[in-house]
Amino acid sequence: MLATSGLTLDEGVSLLYLLASVLFILGLKQLSSPKGARRGNTTAAIGMLIAIVTSLTEIHPSAGKIVLMIVAVIIGTLFGAVLARRVKMTAMPQMVAAFNGVGGGAAALVSIGEYTRLVSSSSHGVVLAISVVFSVVVGSMSFAGSAIAFAKLQEMMTGIPITYAGQQLVNGIVLAAIVVLSIVIIGFSSSIMILTILLIISLVLGVAFVLPIGGADMPVVISLLNAFTGLAVAASGFALGNTVLIVGGTLVGASGTLLTKMMSDAMGRSLSNVLFAAVGKVTESAGAGGAIGQDQSVRSGTPDDIGVLLAYSQKVIIVPGYGLAVAQAQHVVRELADLLEAKGVDVKYAIHPVAGRMPGHMNVLLAEADVKYDQLKEMDEINDEFKLADVALIVGANDVVNPAAKTDPGSPIYGMPILNAEDAKNIVFLKRSMRPGFAGIDNQLMFDPKTIMLFGDAKDSLTKLVAAVKAS
Ligand code: TAP
Repeated sequence: MLATSGLTLDEGVSLLYLLASVLFILGLKQLSSPKGARRGNTTAAIGMLIAIVTSLTEIHPSAGKIVLMIVAVIIGTLFGAVLARRVKMTAMPQMVAAFNGVGGGAAALVSIGEYTRLVSSSSHGVVLAISVVFSVVVGSMSFAGSAIAFAKLQEMMTGIPITYAGQQLVNGIVLAAIVVLSIVIIGFSSSIMILTILLIISLVLGVAFVLPIGGADMPVVISLLNAFTGLAVAASGFALGNTVLIVGGTLVGASGTLLTKMMSDAMGRSLSNVLFAAVGKVTESAGAGGAIGQDQSVRSGTPDDIGVLLAYSQKVIIVPGYGLAVAQAQHVVRELADLLEAKGVDVKYAIHPVAGRMPGHMNVLLAEADVKYDQLKEMDEINDEFKLADVALIVGANDVVNPAAKTDPGSPIYGMPILNAEDAKNIVFLKRSMRPGFAGIDNQLMFDPKTIMLFGDAKDSLTKLVAAVKAS
């Protein structure tokens, strides 16, 4: 068909790669708003399908290899589809880590495979060697780093930073070994053995890189490793001479880098602080949480009292957090909001950029419950409205409303922009206990005289509030 339309096979392949690249870019664009996110995923997935099928026409595999590839595609598709359907929203970061790590590892292995093929046919140059070395080092680091991130988030190992005396020195030696071996491969030797040693040492660096980073910072690290994988894939695209890999990898590299920067900014910290603050520090005994408030009293309320307070308010701002996702309370929170709106209350949701455990976590959760997009307000948009609100209803959130971020220079979250829930006339916390949030620090707001605590699982508490509002 290509020949009759006047296109050579190479031109047809290039056009299809171009189409796939355009679909990736359009998909990314659509992903930038909750409204277009589903379509964006589908668009990019169609691009990926076109890219995969087109790449098969380039390599002219033997019948045996085609069968192997089809089996691999089926296994990969089944794993991906089943895991994606089953994963809980709260476990999404570790799933991204797992998928991302596999991508980095694949880029490294593909590059080694291509290098082995070209070295044996002696048609390789410095550019190929640089691409392969880059892909092997960065892809392996991403693989090993993502595996540690996965283990930390899945609580298969401790989430606290793992540090020890002399850590900088050890990491420095590993890094120096990588630099030396890379120079050897690029300039002096095409030994596959040395390339394999380089891969193993890069795996060690990936582990060493992520160990000293705390569980709370894992989503930022995963985003950075995602960018690493993108760059490793782009480099393997150079090694293979495959444009769609170069374009796709660069898009992932660029968007992962931007996301990493946005997340660090939203936490009020520099990326270097996230990555290196703990390196080499010998861990002090845990003391976070419970330091304040021991001789302070908290006011707890009943669902009936709070239901009346909500029903007779003019303006209520709901602050969703990680606990909302844990409790899977998105539908009942919407039911409560709808009920209040029907009574003439102005209800909005204040979305902090790092509420929950991944970018956009709250938007995705609330969109699942069909909350209207115009009710979801970003932090900068809503922060001035808290002083007009009768109630700030904080549902399973903690760090994102912790005033210590503004007032306590010694706090680990000092400098993180927070939602001004403290400005509301009344503050209601729905959580199970006085336990701290992800950052592991107490929240003085719970002891504020304006605050009422309603202890319990967020879904149960919200269900009781719905009944109380209906009865009021
Ligand atoms: P957190 O500060 O982690 O607080 C969540 C609260 O939810 C906890 O205090 C917990 O208290 C409560 N909770 C848990 N399960 C619950 C349930 N079933 N029902 C009711 N309450 C429940 O959450 P946040 O305010 O959303 O802040 C997010 C944190 O994650 C920040 O520290 C942020 O820096 C960090 N982080 C987020 C991201 C992204 S991109 N989202 C990235 C990196 C880091 P109880 O145990 O007492 O119930």
